[in-house]
Amino acid sequence: MKPLLLPLLLVLATAARADDDPQAGQARAALCMACHGADGYSSIPQFPHLAGQGASYLLKQLQEIRTSNGGADAGRPVPAMQGLLEPLDSQALAGLADWFARQPLRPVPDRAADPAGARLYLQGDLERHIPACSACHGPQATGNDPARFPRLAGQPAAYTLKQLQDFRSGLRHNDLPGRMMQDIASRLTPADMETLARYLESLP
Ligand code: HEC
Ligand code: HEC
Repeated sequence: MKPLLLPLLLVLATAARADDDPQAGQARAALCMACHGADGYSSIPQFPHLAGQGASYLLKQLQEIRTSNGGADAGRPVPAMQGLLEPLDSQALAGLADWFARQPLRPVPDRAADPAGARLYLQGDLERHIPACSACHGPQATGNDPARFPRLAGQPAAYTLKQLQDFRSGLRHNDLPGRMMQDIASRLTPADMETLARYLESLP
């Protein structure tokens, strides 16, 4: 992480001056670039893409990550973002969420979708009480932001896999009310999770 520090400190100096005009979201987004990319596309598979993700979902995550890192348990600790969100108020977080949500999606290289992943994603598995993921995340995995169901399409497989593992272990438990993702993840095998993560990465 060391080589990332210098550019991070440089942008910190400029972003701290941003006030709440429409440009403020963009100025503050510079704080996030080192990990989430200049246009919301991370180049490291453990870091999620934020471009085109739903604004309400993003805001919910930012609020919960800020609170979880601050010591209270809001169900989503992200040590890599420790300290970064603390100085920002809710309006600043909303500005960031809006800015990233508005960044255009990139076309994904044409990869063959894995049929086993497609089946589980679109149909679930009745015998194992696994609902179709598409019921909430949409048939193309583009999400449903008013319900704060996130877009999953195109997300790096390593990131998606870690989220499913974290829901299963309970490390991530911000899927309230109803614990829907913890419940579902508890029924998935490690092989299911990998297949689903690879399938989702292949979607445009
Ligand atoms: C040092 C690296 C780093 C920096 C800087 C950083 N993040 Fe993150 N961010 C991460 C990692 C790693 C995760 C995923 C953590 C996990 O596995 O759950 C993450 C997750 C997120 C998520 C959740 C996305 C999702 O799909 O659920 C949001 C939203 C987010 N970051 C926004 C931001 C914003 C806005 C900034 C700038 C203010 C920022 N991050 C700065 C590393 C970083
Ligand atoms: C009943 C609705 C529902 C179903 C069915 C469902 N999900 Fe989710 N999922 C959610 C909600 C809600 C969240 C966001 C929780 C939060 O606010 O952090 C979520 C979050 C996720 C995330 C984290 C995304 C990110 O950017 O961090 C992944 C990955 C995911 N779901 C995968 C799946 C898979 C794979 C399936 C099918 C096996 C599935 N989901 C089925 C509701 C659902």
